[in-house]
Amino acid sequence: MTHRSWMRSQGFTTEVFDGRPVIGIATTWSELAPCNVHLHRVAESVKRGVWQAGGFPLEFPTMALGETLLRPTAMLYRNLLAMEAEELFRANPLDGVVLLSGCDKTTPGLLMAAASVDLPAIMVTGGPKLNGKYQGTDVGSGTAVWRWEEDLLAGRMTQEECFFAEGCMSRSDGHCMTMGTASTMASAAEALGMQLPYSAAWPAVDSRRYETAQRAGQVIIDLVNSDLTPSKIMTREAFENAIRVNAAIGGSTNAVIHLLAIAGRLGVPLSLDDFDALAADVPTLVNLQPSGQYLMEDFCYAGGLPAVMRELGGLLHGDAITVTGRTVAENVADAPCWNRDVIHAMDAPFQPPGTGTAVLRGNLAPDGAVIKQSAASPHLLKHRGPALVFDSPEAYYAVVADEDLDADENTVLVIRYCGPKGYPGMPEVSNVPLPKKLLNRGVRDMVRICDGRMSGTAYGTVVLHVTPEAAAGGTLALVRTGDWITLDVPSRALTLEVPDEELARRRAEWTAPPPAAARGWTRLYTDHVLQADTGADLDFLIGASGHEIGRASH
Ligand code: FES
Repeated sequence: MTHRSWMRSQGFTTEVFDGRPVIGIATTWSELAPCNVHLHRVAESVKRGVWQAGGFPLEFPTMALGETLLRPTAMLYRNLLAMEAEELFRANPLDGVVLLSGCDKTTPGLLMAAASVDLPAIMVTGGPKLNGKYQGTDVGSGTAVWRWEEDLLAGRMTQEECFFAEGCMSRSDGHCMTMGTASTMASAAEALGMQLPYSAAWPAVDSRRYETAQRAGQVIIDLVNSDLTPSKIMTREAFENAIRVNAAIGGSTNAVIHLLAIAGRLGVPLSLDDFDALAADVPTLVNLQPSGQYLMEDFCYAGGLPAVMRELGGLLHGDAITVTGRTVAENVADAPCWNRDVIHAMDAPFQPPGTGTAVLRGNLAPDGAVIKQSAASPHLLKHRGPALVFDSPEAYYAVVADEDLDADENTVLVIRYCGPKGYPGMPEVSNVPLPKKLLNRGVRDMVRICDGRMSGTAYGTVVLHVTPEAAAGGTLALVRTGDWITLDVPSRALTLEVPDEELARRRAEWTAPPPAAARGWTRLYTDHVLQADTGADLDFLIGASGHEIGRASH
């Protein structure tokens, strides 16, 4: 009676308490997360579907992570969202959950939570913004910003022109409409089988986004009735599909970290090297910024992810089950492609196999580092140069405009203490702009090495996720300006040309920086965060507890 009575204060009639499935709609809506600001309306469509199918929908907020406003980085809070959502899913009397996400970290955060609780779940991402339009051309969120930032620095654009351009870039609801991290993770959720076919690409303001949300509200009831839970959908085969799809779409390097973290919650064996090995024979099929030309709206009209997955055919595990209750192969069997300039065919790919994310190793990254080959300059994929070292991006920004900065196009910029423990939170700072004096000379790219991340919308020859990070005592902490570094992407090697004895001497002199915070979430995070090569989850959040609170075994 207590449960019912208090719920009836919302005006529900008694029939809703007749034992029908109670469906939680977890929304990451917030005005501080502008990419997710329309999720309230998406939730209304989900509710329609739940009611239609005989369920009882209840919307509730989870932590909203706005990539552009949160400091020092939204990534610091991905695990907090995952932890909060996990506890809400378990503690409330829910039979299933619909996960509403959009901005970069909200999609992996909610999938991690759903994986650990293993209640029937379906994701509905909020969809990308409409194409940006500026001076008669399409502009992509994020990707254009990097270019305009350099143009502003080099004096090719005025501040007033920038103000106007930024409004042209963000002209509708939705997340970034390049193949950045949000579009990548929405596609990953679809490739994993956790959201309905075509869900990743419908623009946020397209009526079919809302139709899909309503359908998801119906489907969650089927998932509850058949007990088709996330652990039955997100299998090793599903992750292999997601990795291959990520290569085909030219997806963000952030997918590496997020997919590893989700797999870690499910106990699915997945390693950093899987990303290189599984992507090796996958060509890039999708011609989207930042690696290509088009944007998500074009991708949608060209046929969206099902057209890509159909094209990949035998490279995918076609028998992997999805939230539709059908297999991947059944879902995409008839998926048409309407524009081969946007979604290329396997026999005429946009970029050949082997241009996706490469995993590098060597004495500078014993546990691995990654580079997005399709966003790098081909002439820099094999490069040897002297290091110019900065202990933070801020230290570099302080001198970026100096005319007498000792750097040329051969210099290897090393930006460190940007990893999970270091910054903290592993921010997207690795693709620092080039020194102004080199920009003025027409240099457009140089090798950068960092233990942080790079926005999925960014480009450049940037070695990321160097592991172990500097703050954890990785070799990166021992590099000195003037040391020679060799990057050899074809050989997957990243080498600091300093003898082992000298590195041992430097290591003995090195002292770890103090924790980034004395208390609170940041202290908990830095004390427990794992390194990038396993997904940067917290050590005590790995694995699943299921629907009930489990007692630890001793
Ligand atoms: Fe939210 Fe790019 S800032 S998706």
